[in-house]
Amino acid sequence: MEDRVIASGFTRREFMRASLAGCTLLALSPAVVPAEASAQAKGPFELPPLPYAQNALSPVISAGTVGFHYGRHHRGYLDNLNGLVEGTPYEKMSLEGVIRASASSPGQTAVFNNAAQVWNHTFYWNGMKPGGGGKPGGEIGKAIEKAFGSYENFRKEFLAAALGQFGSGWAWLVADGSALRVVKTANAENPFTQRLRPLLTIDVWEHAYYLDYQNRRKDFVEASLDRLVNWAFVEGNLGKAGG
Ligand code: FE2
Repeated sequence: MEDRVIASGFTRREFMRASLAGCTLLALSPAVVPAEASAQAKGPFELPPLPYAQNALSPVISAGTVGFHYGRHHRGYLDNLNGLVEGTPYEKMSLEGVIRASASSPGQTAVFNNAAQVWNHTFYWNGMKPGGGGKPGGEIGKAIEKAFGSYENFRKEFLAAALGQFGSGWAWLVADGSALRVVKTANAENPFTQRLRPLLTIDVWEHAYYLDYQNRRKDFVEASLDRLVNWAFVEGNLGKAGG
């Protein structure tokens, strides 16, 4: 069959494959909104552009997965957030401000969840790049060896956190003061609400890998660590002050 691009960077084959698998994912993810509604949404927060083309992470993460993940899920959280903050004091805050304010406010779970998911996904995309991954050098390489004893130990610990997160969530490398740690969070939770500074994350919600890996989360996380991590981004976060 002709495999031409039909919409939003999807080829016909990718679109059909993604649509079939997406039926399950759409039912699992209440944050997904129709593309038509997304395109019309307006608000104070904007969706940052992907730092690379939709197919740039292939074959580790397919263009179909990135297209749905960024174009539907990430945009869905953004559109939900813009709807929720309309006419509230959140409208004038930074995204980080919204996350911190809503995290400690009873009854603000929906604002927190959507704001944190917008932030988490932007951070995730920036922490990946084509041709990345593997053992890093530079300051981040030294910091990892100091904290974990070796890159291999870090890799094992990160993988264990990613696989140990029951259900949806995130695995993170964070700075806890001057120490590096691996942590996991559930759903939309973000380490900086716990005074930890995120350095790297991998999304372990099923929508991040199910089209490409089905239930094989381990394969997805290992391939991401070995072939996609943007260590320059991680090292840049290491050097930032504050938490
Ligand atoms: Fe996600």
